[in-house]
Amino acid sequence: MDAVHAIYKHYVLNSVATFEEIVPSVSEMTNRWRALAEQGLPYLIATDPSDAPLGYAYAALYRTRVAYRATLEDTIYLAPDAVGHGLGAALLAELIDQAETVGARQMVGVIAGANEASVSVHRGAGFQTVGVLKAVGFKFGAWVDTTLMQRPIGSGAKSPLS
Ligand SMILES: CC(C)(COP(=O)(O)OP(=O)(O)OC[C@H]1O[C@@H](n2cnc3c(N)ncnc32)[C@H](O)[C@@H]1OP(=O)(O)O)[C@@H](O)C(=O)NCCC(=O)NCCS
Repeated sequence: MDAVHAIYKHYVLNSVATFEEIVPSVSEMTNRWRALAEQGLPYLIATDPSDAPLGYAYAALYRTRVAYRATLEDTIYLAPDAVGHGLGAALLAELIDQAETVGARQMVGVIAGANEASVSVHRGAGFQTVGVLKAVGFKFGAWVDTTLMQRPIGSGAKSPLS
């Protein structure tokens, strides 16, 4: 979690990719991981051959109200020197596989600001843009839009939840 914390800290302080502005502590990051683990949701750490973390990804409930229970939202953050080598695509593909295993039916990506890399990675994984929320964030003195992308998981909406 120290490595996850270091990666996330960079984006909190330098990017609108996250709308957080105050860096959460390592223990808070650990609590967030534990909450997902207790729900049986996937949390992936990508490492180099020497086991050094290069990035992480997880799928959380898109919203907590019960009818949203089969809809997950993905999150991916790579260390700055690990971007652009296919790792984001690999993490998202694995996240989608694991989301299907836990019974998810939809996955949503909420992409803040102009983030071509994230849009490309999601599009490559079968997501489609379903909307843009205008000026829903305000960070570094400017309004920030979010692009919503979505793809079905497993049988999607073809059958009801059991
Ligand atoms: C967004 C992020 C996860 C993408 O992962 P990545 O490993 O850099 O991307 P990949 O190398 O897997 O690229 C996947 C595809 O996106 C394309 N792509 C990557 N970066 C791109 C860029 N800056 N502009 C346009 N396309 C880009 C690649 O060409 C590739 O397309 P292909 O499958 O047709 O070859 C990663 O860059 C990252 O962590 N960025 C900072 C944090 C962040 O923005 N997280 C997302 C929050 S929603």
